[in-house]
Amino acid sequence: MRFKKLAIAVLVGIGLLAAFGTVFADNLTGDLEIFSWWAGDEGPALQALIDMYNAQHPGVNLINATVTGGSGVNAKAVLKTRMLGGNPPDSFQVHAGQELIGTWVKADRMEDLTWLFKQEGWMDVFPSGLIKLLSTDKGIWSVPVNIHRSNVMWYIPANLEKWGVEAPKTWDEFLTIAPKLQAQGVVPLALATNWTANHLWESVALAVLGPEKWQQLWDGTLSFTSPEAVKVWEMFGKILQYTNDDAASLSWQQATDMVVNGKAAFNIMGDWASGYMATTLGLTPGVDYAWSASPGTDGVFMMLSDSFGLPKGAPNRDNAIAWLQLLGSKAGSDAFNPLKGSISARKDSDLSLYNVYSQSAAADWQKDIIAGSLTHGVVANEGFMNDFATVMEMFLTSRDPQQAANACEAIARQNGIGE
Ligand code: GAL
Repeated sequence: MRFKKLAIAVLVGIGLLAAFGTVFADNLTGDLEIFSWWAGDEGPALQALIDMYNAQHPGVNLINATVTGGSGVNAKAVLKTRMLGGNPPDSFQVHAGQELIGTWVKADRMEDLTWLFKQEGWMDVFPSGLIKLLSTDKGIWSVPVNIHRSNVMWYIPANLEKWGVEAPKTWDEFLTIAPKLQAQGVVPLALATNWTANHLWESVALAVLGPEKWQQLWDGTLSFTSPEAVKVWEMFGKILQYTNDDAASLSWQQATDMVVNGKAAFNIMGDWASGYMATTLGLTPGVDYAWSASPGTDGVFMMLSDSFGLPKGAPNRDNAIAWLQLLGSKAGSDAFNPLKGSISARKDSDLSLYNVYSQSAAADWQKDIIAGSLTHGVVANEGFMNDFATVMEMFLTSRDPQQAANACEAIARQNGIGE
C-alpha cells in the first residue's frame, strides 16, 4: 500500500515536471538580457515576443540589447567581444547552420538544448532538416524562431507597368531590360551597403550554378576556381553596372525605399523586406508591392533561420530558458512571424494569421528545392563570411572575376570549407 502511494506520488511529480518543464515560470525574477540586431525598423516583431514574455513573467526585467546593422554586421562583432570576454548575454540571435555550429558550438560556448526540444515536443513540430542545421552529433544548440527566404526580388507592379517592363525571369532578361529603365532615369536594381552585395551575390550564384552545384561549393566538391564559379563573378559584375552609385552608404531599408519611391525598379532582398513594407510602411502585399523568385531561381527556396541559443555561463539561465520556450511555442512563433515577413519554423503554424506574401512563401517552403544562404549563416562559418566580405570589397573595386574566384578558393581552404 505504502509502495503504491509512493509510486503515485512519483508519477504525479513526473507529470508536473512534464507539464511545467524544469522551470516554474511564474516565479521567475531577476534580469533577462537578450541580444540581437533587430533594432529600429526591424524591431516590431521582436517587440511582440517581448510583450508576451513580460505578460507571462512579470517578475523578470527584460533587457532588450540590440546593435543596429542589417544581417548583424555590427552585432556579431560586439557579441564576439562579449563572449570571448566571459560576458555573454542570456540569449542571443544566431543563424541556424554554420554560423552557430562552426563558430559558437565549435568553440564549446553553447549549452545543449536537446532536453528542451524533447520536453517541449519540438522534435516533431520542427522539420527534421532544420533540426539538423541546429545540431551536431553531440546536441541541439539553439531554438529557431523563423524561416526567412533570401532569394526574392521585390518591385512595384504599377511602376513596372508605367515603365513598360516585366519582372525578369532570368538575369539575361534583366540585362536586356536594364538599359530601358536607365533611359527613363530609373535605377534598374537598388543596392545598399556591402553585406547586401553579398546577399545579391548568393542569389546570382544560385541562378548561375543551380542548387546542386551551389551546395557543392560548400561541401568542397566544386572549386571556387571552376569555370562555373568564375562565371558567377562575371554575371555579378555585369549586374552591378545597373545598380546605384551610392549603394555603400545606404541601409537595406533605404534600398527598399528606392523601389517603393519609384527611384529603382527592383531589389533583391530577404523577405524581411516584406516585413518592412507591410509592417513598417503599411503597404499591402500583392497590391502595393509584389515579388518573384530572384531571376533564375524559381522553384528554389534559399533559406535561413534566425534562432536563439543559451550560452554557457548565461547569468540568468532560468529566465533564458523561459525565453526559449516562448520562441519555440506556436503562440510565440505566430505572433512574431506575421510581423517579421518570415514564416514559422513550426509545421503547425496558423497560416490564416499571415499575409499573402507569407502564405506564398509557406507554400514554396513546402514544394521548392531548399538551398542554404551564405550571407545569413547557413552554409559557411563566420571565418569564411568575414573573409568573403573582404573579397567582395576587393571585387567592388577591381571587378576582376578571376581574381575574386582565386581569393574565394584561398579563403575556403583557410576556413576549412568542405572539411
Ligand atoms: C538577417 C536576419 C533577418 C534580418 C536581416 C536584416 O541576417 O536573419 O532576420 O534581420 O538580417 O537585418
